[in-house]
Amino acid sequence: MGSILVTGGAGFIGSHTCLSLIEKGYEVIILDSLINSKNEVINRIKKICKANNDLLEKNLKFFKCDLREINKVEKIFSEAINGGNPIKGVIHFAGLKSVGESIKNPILYWDVNLISSINLVRVMDKFDCRNIVFSSSATLYGQSSKELLNEETEIKPINPYGTSKYGIELFLDDVFKSTSEIWSIAKLRYFNPIGAHCSGLIGENPVGIPNNIFPLLLDKTYKKKENLKIFGNDWPTIDGTGVRDYIHVMDLAEAHIKILEHITQTKNKNLNLNIGTGKGTSVLELIKIFEKTNNVKVPFEIVDRRPGDAASVVADNQLLKSTLNWLPKLSLEEMCRDGWNWKIKNPFGY
Ligand code: NAD
Ligand code: WQD
Repeated sequence: MGSILVTGGAGFIGSHTCLSLIEKGYEVIILDSLINSKNEVINRIKKICKANNDLLEKNLKFFKCDLREINKVEKIFSEAINGGNPIKGVIHFAGLKSVGESIKNPILYWDVNLISSINLVRVMDKFDCRNIVFSSSATLYGQSSKELLNEETEIKPINPYGTSKYGIELFLDDVFKSTSEIWSIAKLRYFNPIGAHCSGLIGENPVGIPNNIFPLLLDKTYKKKENLKIFGNDWPTIDGTGVRDYIHVMDLAEAHIKILEHITQTKNKNLNLNIGTGKGTSVLELIKIFEKTNNVKVPFEIVDRRPGDAASVVADNQLLKSTLNWLPKLSLEEMCRDGWNWKIKNPFGY
């Protein structure tokens, strides 16, 4: 059958996707430098697999490796062939993702994000593995004022993290154009993934101080010491607070498998695909649903707008629907329930 390589598979979205892949019967190889994740996540994925089926945990291999070390990457591909299970497809999550850090250190972001992707594609090509699903981001659309963002919306990233993602998209387009008979590529533009696996054993584990709303909301609610700062209540939105398209990380995991299967079966694809629910939720609405679902109080205060923010970022997901005949299913209540379950079981992460 062959195996699937998941770069960055120890991270937030990667770990949930690996679990879903294994549960579907895939053999999974995780390659991760652990720069933004912990080794413990591997044990947790195995633990969840074991609880469901003793045999499944065998289907996971882990290599601590930085994609910039091309020799090590080659070794992983050749060992898979020698073991009789060549890598048939790659889901490429590995990369750095902090907007603020990217503004302070653009060289690091271009180095890690772009060089890693070039190395990976070079090695894939050498080993005749040409199916790749790449983690892009809705951040590419910058501060567009459109109500719903579709894949044709102007690309206008406003920070080095976003430009590095766009650079990788363009690189993959060039690779596809030069050899369109053999590569199958999907570039997934995620909106705002939150939540966790329902076991509470894996979840988002930011190294350092988080910037995103959901891990901050969990932390402030758990510790009850400081308020969550809401960045502005004067945006042109339903209640003045920022509107985003939150998607459950398990839906996102499922989307990856469906897309990988789609591009592997249909071949000769080069897709740009938004992955979102198509439904916008304001910060105040998110807090209200979180409080009601979990019967807790979220301490918050309104502060100034954050530079670089947009009023509303919501996906037009019609292309996702027509391509896969699938849309995300899990509700905001489920995102809030599962995220809180993860937090109270792992208040300090892994
Ligand atoms: P994450 O930081 O939890 O996971 C990324 C993983 O990649 C980490 O485990 C990290 O250790 C690893 N990594 C980083 N550089 C590496 C390298 N050079 N070689 C090997 N491993 C390396 O992030 P995430 O939230 O799971 O995001 C996964 C991907 O999705 C990222 O590419 C991110 O840019 C993209 N994305 C995330 C979001 C989001 O809100 N979480 C939204 C849009 C896009
Ligand atoms: C969501 C909403 C904030 C924090 C970022 C990246 C983007 C992508 C997803 C990777 C906004 C508000 C936030 C806080 C707040 N990541 N907020 N107080 O800005 O949509 O996108 O993550 O690709 O690249 O830029 O997500 O979670 O930071 O913000 O009020 O402490 O919450 O203003 O309206 P964002 P976010």
